[in-house]
Amino acid sequence: MSKKQLYDFGMVGLGVMGRNFLLNVADHGYSIIGLDNNQEQAEALVEEAGDKPAKATTDMKDFVASLKKPRKIMLLVPAGKVVDMIIEDLLKHVEPNDVIIDGGNSFFEDTERRLEYLKEKKVTFLGVGVSGGAKGARFGPSIMPGGSKQAYNKVKKILEAVSAKVNDEPCVAYMGKGSAGNYVKMVHNGIEYAMMQLLAESYGILKNIGGLNNEELHQAYKKYNRGKLKSFLVEITAEIFAQKDDLGKGMLIDKILDKAKQKGTGKWTSQNAMDFGIPVPTIDAAVTMRGISSLKSERLAAEKILKVRVSKPKLDKNKLVKEMGDALFFAFITAYSQGMALLANASKEKGFGLDLEATARIWRGGCIIRASLLEDIRKAYSTDADLPNLMMDKTFAKHLKGNHNALRSIIKKSIDAGIPTLAFSTSLAYFDAYRDGRLPLNLTQAQRDHFGSHTYERVDKDGTFHSSWSL
Ligand code: 6PG
Repeated sequence: MSKKQLYDFGMVGLGVMGRNFLLNVADHGYSIIGLDNNQEQAEALVEEAGDKPAKATTDMKDFVASLKKPRKIMLLVPAGKVVDMIIEDLLKHVEPNDVIIDGGNSFFEDTERRLEYLKEKKVTFLGVGVSGGAKGARFGPSIMPGGSKQAYNKVKKILEAVSAKVNDEPCVAYMGKGSAGNYVKMVHNGIEYAMMQLLAESYGILKNIGGLNNEELHQAYKKYNRGKLKSFLVEITAEIFAQKDDLGKGMLIDKILDKAKQKGTGKWTSQNAMDFGIPVPTIDAAVTMRGISSLKSERLAAEKILKVRVSKPKLDKNKLVKEMGDALFFAFITAYSQGMALLANASKEKGFGLDLEATARIWRGGCIIRASLLEDIRKAYSTDADLPNLMMDKTFAKHLKGNHNALRSIIKKSIDAGIPTLAFSTSLAYFDAYRDGRLPLNLTQAQRDHFGSHTYERVDKDGTFHSSWSL
């Protein structure tokens, strides 16, 4: 009897992401095996793998038995209960020292729970953030692994091989202990939400105040992408405005319903930042705007009832496009600043041991928020690993001081024209508040003491004070 062929790497979930990731692994010389209870998806893997050593099965026992030890098993399935169900099934077959890698957008607290549970079973577990969408998974994602370092070392070579590369450096690095990988991915998505909302607002302003048509918008974002705003999201924004509708006349963008869906990662970022007391207002604004966007029927009714007279100034298109570029640049910096500040705090609170330079380094390629700015962010944390806020780095302080006026001007025009700029406005307010050494919240403290004897501190004396306030 011939010896059973054993495979290097296994994937549970052969949807587009799982299949693409696995084919990427195969491209780098590893033999692969996939498991999916959908026969068609299993067959698609083998077909797409061509002559590379690959197998697909719908049988969990066969899947696990076909893997080389220690087994390396990745899950790319929807976050939530499905992950727990698959882990439970896997536990019937895996052995101590095998590695289970969850590559989905799992909530970090679920990862913490799974880590504890699997520790009891002596199975090593990694919570890994994977960014880059279907194309990234196929040709090089950014990978954010967290959990046991020992487990990471067992899969390091494979993850480095499949990840995106920037200047030959892999876009993967061990993020830290526990749920660090999922946490970093969550914050990545929070920043992604903020950048997407800023781009949506820029589109609304260029279109509605500037009167730019789709072709002009296409050209404007294409130009942005050749300069300091160079990034994946700006690049695809330019492409979107050039896409014709293949189901009818005109351009596709004008046919798409303005209701933005969400799977939760942006909201989790805001919720967790609130829990830690770390401000991420531009991310909050992005989540809020997705919420407002989904109130489509209410908005349509309100369009008539809440109609107001606003002025739409005549503007020089070219000047507006230039100003918008500077405003976006400023606001993108504040979005990254908020995300990085949250990561720095979470690392301390949760003992992740995050290296923010490494985080910026692996975000330079493969992921959705990749941008030329990330090389400067990497440099900032390489100069000072304990930077309290990215805005305090010399280069970024210069960028912000050089571009804030453009954002002020954009916001003023938008207010006059009745165009909402929640993300832009919070970006500017974040900057203005952060650089204010005396905010008016002494009044808040006075009020708290007045109505609830909550006490206050003083600027001129140490200690805690309470006053009897006259009515
Ligand atoms: C990525 C993306 C990916 C996914 C988003 C979409 O990094 O590849 O972030 O994870 O496309 O989670 O999120 P929403 O559905 O919440 O917009």
